[in-house]
Amino acid sequence: MAVERTLVLLKPDAVARRLSGPILTRFEARGLKIVGLKMLQVTPELSKKHYAEHVSKPFYPQLEEFITSAPIVAIALEGPEAIAVVRAMMGPTNGRQAAPGTIRGDFGLSRQMNLVHGSDGPEAAAKELSIYFGPNELISSCGPLDHLTLADDEK
Ligand code: RTP
Ligand code: MG
Repeated sequence: MAVERTLVLLKPDAVARRLSGPILTRFEARGLKIVGLKMLQVTPELSKKHYAEHVSKPFYPQLEEFITSAPIVAIALEGPEAIAVVRAMMGPTNGRQAAPGTIRGDFGLSRQMNLVHGSDGPEAAAKELSIYFGPNELISSCGPLDHLTLADDEK
């Protein structure tokens, strides 16, 4: 089993609606470890880097306007199969189609203002973590709770 790191963004709507705490609590309660955390304002340049695959799509201008509109929180999370675990906790892109129990399904109804971003694969995770965090900004640690949350062969 692979211990992975993934990038999560709490988007401008999540921060402005004071949902940073409740969303972060879900990831922590699930057993994922915070290994990096910062608040920042996304610039148009950073948005184009982060959403490179979407820049030429018709919805991109609106997406850039949204993601640069107010501060976000960037979080690096670590855990077994963290990339897929986080995507499952987020739910699908459109909040209206997201099941109750997921972050998007519990807190919103929008396709654009959908609260969170999570890396969608190992390649994206590596690229996105390096965009938001320098190597010295990511922490490596074994916590005192580790022996209670995972078996030895899951760590
Ligand atoms: P994200 O990258 O933010 O984690 O979201 P995702 O994988 O679920 O969705 P993706 O297809 O990568 O789209 C990135 C973000 O662009 C906005 N979007 N708008 N108007 C539209 O058709 C449309 N499609 C996507 C959403 O904010 C989505 O999260
Ligand atoms: Mg995506």
